[in-house]
Amino acid sequence: MQELITKLSEEVNQVSTTTKDSLESFRLRFISKKGQIAQLFEEFKEMSGEEKKKVGKALNELKKLAESKFKELQEQLDSKSSAAAVDIDLSLPPVADAIGNLHPLNLTRYKIIQIFERLGFNVSDGPEIEDDWHNFSALNFPDNHPAREMQDTFFIEKNPDMLLRTHTSNVQIRLMQKQKPPIRSIMPGRVYRNEAISARAHCFFHQVEGLYVDKNVSFADLKQTLYHFAKEMYGKDIQIRFRPSFFPFTEPSAEIDISCLICHGEGCTVCKHSGWVEIAGSGMVHPNVLKNCGIDPEEYTGFAFGMGIERVTQLRYRVNDLRLYSENDIRFLKQFKSVI
Ligand code: DAH
Repeated sequence: MQELITKLSEEVNQVSTTTKDSLESFRLRFISKKGQIAQLFEEFKEMSGEEKKKVGKALNELKKLAESKFKELQEQLDSKSSAAAVDIDLSLPPVADAIGNLHPLNLTRYKIIQIFERLGFNVSDGPEIEDDWHNFSALNFPDNHPAREMQDTFFIEKNPDMLLRTHTSNVQIRLMQKQKPPIRSIMPGRVYRNEAISARAHCFFHQVEGLYVDKNVSFADLKQTLYHFAKEMYGKDIQIRFRPSFFPFTEPSAEIDISCLICHGEGCTVCKHSGWVEIAGSGMVHPNVLKNCGIDPEEYTGFAFGMGIERVTQLRYRVNDLRLYSENDIRFLKQFKSVI
């Protein structure tokens, strides 16, 4: 028996690689109740005390060896099959990465910035949570004047002097306070108004403010600048018109319309059948505003404008529901190619 035990031990030791089938035959041969080792134990029972002493230890060791070998092989097989599960099949065609694109409002914002940068404007930024002075008073909105009600404001409950800015004109003030003319800057950003959400109105939207203050800046400069902008944005055939208007911070003030790109003047719902679409408010900076910022209106003049990015985008891409811009519907967003 001793010889057989030695032979089997060697065999067990030599088994190395496994498949499911070879593991099963190993089990049947060495581990199962009808296997060779079990058989040896049967024979062992029949032996005399003397003989038992000789082979007992070796037989038990063989049993342990076979069992630990079986365990080891089984683990090997398990880890092999879980590795196989994550194996990459290099022959498969690649799965393309989903590449995102810029939001249409950002595409427009970048385009606006690009156009004005070429004219020598830089880009400035200001706070969205603003105080009453920068958003209203410094811009020549008198206290309790109905002009303040032109814009429905979200006030901060804990401190009613603070509010969510209703326009980007607050940045004009911040800029003029900290920088002396010449100033030539555009100021893109988000603004907030307390309005019920619909296709035409939203509680927040985006504007780009423009400001040019220097010696001898005239209304002709304003007209030429915005005409140039409209042509760059929409093409040479665009028409532009200035309509007299009122803003407390500009005098004179004008609203800027461009010819409707949707119906080309024939009349549609976007232009309310007028053939013209308003894209910005503008005017010559009011002397009081310059004074409020410590700039002498006798020495300097300036023009300013504020345009709605949603409106400019709407005419670019023919989107006529404002809600689409903030719903994050991937079917809407992926239609815009990231070309500025
Ligand atoms: N702040 C105005 C608004 O939100 C837009 C505007 C009008 C801005 C005239 C200006 C301007 O800078 O000169 O309705």
